[in-house]
Amino acid sequence: MVAVFKSAAHVCFLHLPKYQFAAASVSGGTTRKRITFSTGYPLSQDRSTSRLQVRQASLRGMHVDVEAKMDAEKLKKGIAEFYDQSSEIWEDIWGDHMHHGFYDPSSTVSLSDHRSAQIRMIEEALKFALVSEEPLKKPKSIVDVGCGIGGSSRYLASKYGAECTGITLSPVQAKRAQALAAAQGLENKVSFEVADALNQPFPDGKFDLVWSLESGEHMPDKTKFVNELARVAAPGATIIIVTWCHRDLSSSEQSLNPEEKKLLDKICDAYYLPAWCSTDDYVKLLQSLSLQDIKAADWSEYVAPFWPAVISSALSWKGITSLILSGWKTIRGAMAMPLMVEGYKKGLIKFAIIACRKPE
Ligand SMILES: C[S@@+](CC[C@H](N)C(=O)[O-])C[C@H]1O[C@@H](n2cnc3c(N)ncnc32)[C@H](O)[C@@H]1O
Repeated sequence: MVAVFKSAAHVCFLHLPKYQFAAASVSGGTTRKRITFSTGYPLSQDRSTSRLQVRQASLRGMHVDVEAKMDAEKLKKGIAEFYDQSSEIWEDIWGDHMHHGFYDPSSTVSLSDHRSAQIRMIEEALKFALVSEEPLKKPKSIVDVGCGIGGSSRYLASKYGAECTGITLSPVQAKRAQALAAAQGLENKVSFEVADALNQPFPDGKFDLVWSLESGEHMPDKTKFVNELARVAAPGATIIIVTWCHRDLSSSEQSLNPEEKKLLDKICDAYYLPAWCSTDDYVKLLQSLSLQDIKAADWSEYVAPFWPAVISSALSWKGITSLILSGWKTIRGAMAMPLMVEGYKKGLIKFAIIACRKPE
């Protein structure tokens, strides 16, 4: 049975535990707050339900399912086009890492510091997840889920001497990532392909490090996302998810308040995001898969200088001219940057790291 609720994502995780989050509905980059849930249970078979009613309900369910799939396809297309258009300008100004930096809280920093802060983000995430550097225990096979132009893939492959495969929805990113790898002599160590994180083209248990740095917020089906991360992880592998979340809800709250939802909706429109979830929601999902050593932290204070710096680089002469040339999707993304600052300041947006290990 499939039901449609006007609600935020956490409702399904926290308050309707037997329902499974299937998809958030999007339309041309616009996130509507309609979430589809699937119980996985057969239709009610009690005596008062006629066969016709069962059939009608089933058809309604199929209709919603088809609609949710179409919405998910639209979202994927929007994400691919957004990164196809915006990756070159990002690389030009910020380099090959398309993620927040990790800073000492309240430090003042210049652009070169931001690049080292982005590397520090990777190092801090590995440290947080206790990824071993010992020769026999360090990762040998890595997947970079939502790889951008491969900044993490190349860094991790070089650091560990590992093989790394990156996946992205953007053909432009995959091509650029491969070219940068070749330029750095890493073409035998890293490879990139266009593939969906929710349906990864890899066999079960392939990777001993599963890495997702700022791609989880794009996933319309968090259950499927986490399931895929766990599926491709080898026994004993580490899974690291660094992602944007909304604040955890208190026990008395059913959902975010209307103002908060409105702010997140605007951000969703600009960055091709489906409904958000909280860090707690991720932890519950990992627990439901019996993953081990689950750890989570809020790193919002360590990323605070990032968005103000991105805004000032967008307002530079080079930033403005590049934005104009790169098209409407990128311009709209730039216009939404102050909303991210506002979301962090209000304690609504959380920069979360969640790590765990697949049992041996
Ligand atoms: C903000 S970028 C982060 C890139 C990279 N992790 C980094 O830190 O440089 C988000 C990335 O997630 C990818 N992405 C979003 N949804 C995806 C999906 N369903 N499957 C694969 N990649 C996806 C986008 O294509 C993009 O490469």
